[in-house]
Amino acid sequence: MDLTYRPRRLRSSMRLRKMVRETRMDKSSLIYPMFVTEGTNIKEEIPSMMGQYRYSVDRMEEKLIELAEAGVGGVMLFGIPDHKDEVGSQAYAEDGIVQKAFRKAKEACPELYMIGDVCMCEYTSHGHCGVLCGHDVDNDKTLELLAKTALSQVQAGADMVAPSDMMDGRVEAIRSILDDNGFINTPIMAYSAKFASAFYGPFRDAADSAPSFGDRKTYQMDYHNRREALKEVLLDVDEGADIIMIKPAMAYGDLIREAKDNTCLPIAAYSVSGEYSMVKTTAAAGFLDEAAIVCEMAACAYRAGTDIYITYFAQELAKYMDEGRLG
Ligand code: PBG
Repeated sequence: MDLTYRPRRLRSSMRLRKMVRETRMDKSSLIYPMFVTEGTNIKEEIPSMMGQYRYSVDRMEEKLIELAEAGVGGVMLFGIPDHKDEVGSQAYAEDGIVQKAFRKAKEACPELYMIGDVCMCEYTSHGHCGVLCGHDVDNDKTLELLAKTALSQVQAGADMVAPSDMMDGRVEAIRSILDDNGFINTPIMAYSAKFASAFYGPFRDAADSAPSFGDRKTYQMDYHNRREALKEVLLDVDEGADIIMIKPAMAYGDLIREAKDNTCLPIAAYSVSGEYSMVKTTAAAGFLDEAAIVCEMAACAYRAGTDIYITYFAQELAKYMDEGRLG
């Protein structure tokens, strides 16, 4: 055959394949989501998330040190309070669970970059992401509480805040309270395009945050929509977001790319609990190779355009990158 093009030429050895690789990854862009709970001496496995744990504040340190030693870039904290009420008051309490956890993390492991997930659903008795008016979440009343939550997390030591509630105008509300209190240099990573997704199932079990009635479809996005995702992204850019997030990651690569091509901000993608548990349970059944799938999922998210990858596999991925399996 007299072929002009033989693309296989560049695939002929590992050395060459690595040389021409288009997507490069770095451990410093990995973020690990971590659950902290009230109580002492607790490290309990989350039933729906094999290999993931809820830690009490006094037991966090062991995990934080492992993550820092592995080279993971940052940690995103989720608090699980003892007490929930209608207005989620533990979300913005000075001695709330996540505030205590930030203080501890900063003292135990100052080199780790600590991020606060800002939402109400783990803290409200009804499990919705804001305060209710009848059976729906009252957007504008919720903004005030989200802003207070973000401020209290930053005052406790959070390096960055990440609002995940999907209320309209929350980036602006948080930016303005942080600025008014002197935190002009604390970045906001906005969960800009967060979809009403069944992939969050295991998380709601982990954080005890399933809504007690209805669903989140009046605030989280409809997964049929691509242009609306871009609208949300561009609104958050206008409101002053520093980083844009797309969530979930695995089935939403088109939107990661859309955000990347239409903004000048760094893009984050959150590989959520359902993605994690699908891999874990299928691998445990012996039906697929866990490490290979985890590498492939990560590389695909970065290839789609993500700069920051939030994943329960962060520590494993850091190791795979060290081993040269990807990146
Ligand atoms: C809080 C929040 C959720 C997740 C991150 N922040 C749950 C939800 O929106 O129901 C999901 C993360 C995951 O599934 O890993 N609103």
